[in-house]
Amino acid sequence: MSDNLTIAVIGAGGKMGMRVSANLMKTDHTVFYSENSPAGQERVTDAGRTLTATDDAVKVSDVVVLAVPDLALSAVSDAVVPLMKSGAILLTLDPAAAYAGLLATRDDIIQGVTHPCHPSVFVERHTPEEYADTFGGIAAKQDAIAAIESDSTVARDTLEAVVRVIFAPVVDVHWVTVKQLAQLEPTLVETIACMVGALLKEALDEAVNTMGVPEPAARAILLGHTQVALANTLKGDNPFSEACLIAMDYGREAIIKEDWKKVFRDDELDKNLARMLHLDHVSRK
Ligand SMILES: NC(=O)c1ccc[n+]([C@@H]2O[C@H](COP(=O)([O-])OP(=O)(O)OC[C@H]3O[C@@H](n4cnc5c(N)ncnc54)[C@H](O)[C@@H]3O)[C@@H](O)[C@H]2O)c1
Repeated sequence: MSDNLTIAVIGAGGKMGMRVSANLMKTDHTVFYSENSPAGQERVTDAGRTLTATDDAVKVSDVVVLAVPDLALSAVSDAVVPLMKSGAILLTLDPAAAYAGLLATRDDIIQGVTHPCHPSVFVERHTPEEYADTFGGIAAKQDAIAAIESDSTVARDTLEAVVRVIFAPVVDVHWVTVKQLAQLEPTLVETIACMVGALLKEALDEAVNTMGVPEPAARAILLGHTQVALANTLKGDNPFSEACLIAMDYGREAIIKEDWKKVFRDDELDKNLARMLHLDHVSRK
C-alpha cells in the first residue's frame, strides 16, 4: 500500500508545507497541494506545484498532512475529517493539538503525529549541503519520531513511508505514544533545549554588550565550548577538568531552580500546552 499513495498537504505554502511538499514532489506518490492564503498559494505555484481545493484533495487521499498552524488545527480538522476516505490517516506535524484532544476524530480515521528530530549535532556530514542543512529534510541525515493511534501494521507502514519521505533523508523512525511525543516536544526540546540555546545567546550578548568583550572572541570561545560541553556530557568524549566541574556547580546553584524537573509533570505539560495553544486550560475529549 505504501508504494503508491495519494497524499494531501494542507497548508502547502507554509514553512513545513513547503519543506514536505518539496520532498513529496520527488516521489511517485500522487500529491495534492492545498493552501488558503494568497502569499502561500504564490509560494506553491512558484515552486512548480499545482493547487487543489482542500475538499477535493482530502476526499481521495490515503494520508492527509495538516501543515497548518497549531492554532488552526482544531478548525481545519473539523472541516477535513468528515470528508476523508474510510481508513485514511490524518497526520499532524506536532503533538500539541493531538495530545490536547483538539483534533476532530472519526472511528474509521487513523490519527498520526510525527516530528522531525533535526540532524544531530554529532551527525557525520560530508558535503557543503549536509553542513548547511541544520533543519534537516534536504541533505543531512536525521531521525524522526512518530505516533499512531491504531494497531494496524499496514497503517503504521504507510505512516512510516510518508515520514521517511517528508523528512528525507531519515535514518530511524522512533515510535512512541502521542503523550510521549508531547513530553519530547515541547518539554524536552523546546522548553529545555531551545530555551538553553536562547540562554547561551543572552549570555553571549551580556559578555559583549555589558562586559565589553570583543564579539568575535566571545562568539568563538562560546561556540567551541558549546561543542565540548555537548560532546562531554551527551557523547562521553572527555571528562571535564576539576576546575570546570567547580565552575559548573556554581552555575547550577546560581542559575537553575531546584524544582526545575517539574516541567515534565502532566499538570505542567498541560499548562505549557494551554499557553502554546492559547487555551484557558487543556481539557481532553
Ligand atoms: N516551523 C517549524 O520549524 C516546524 C517544525 C516542526 C513541526 N512544525 C509544525 O508544522 C505545522 C505547520 O507549522 P508551520 O510553521 O509550517 O506554519 P506556517 O504558519 O509557516 O504555515 C502554515 C500554512 O498553512 C496555511 N493555512 C492555514 N489555514 C489553512 C487552511 N484552512 N487551508 C489551507 N491552508 C491553510 C497558512 O496560510 C500557511 O501557509 C504546525 O503543526 C507546526 O507545529 C513546524
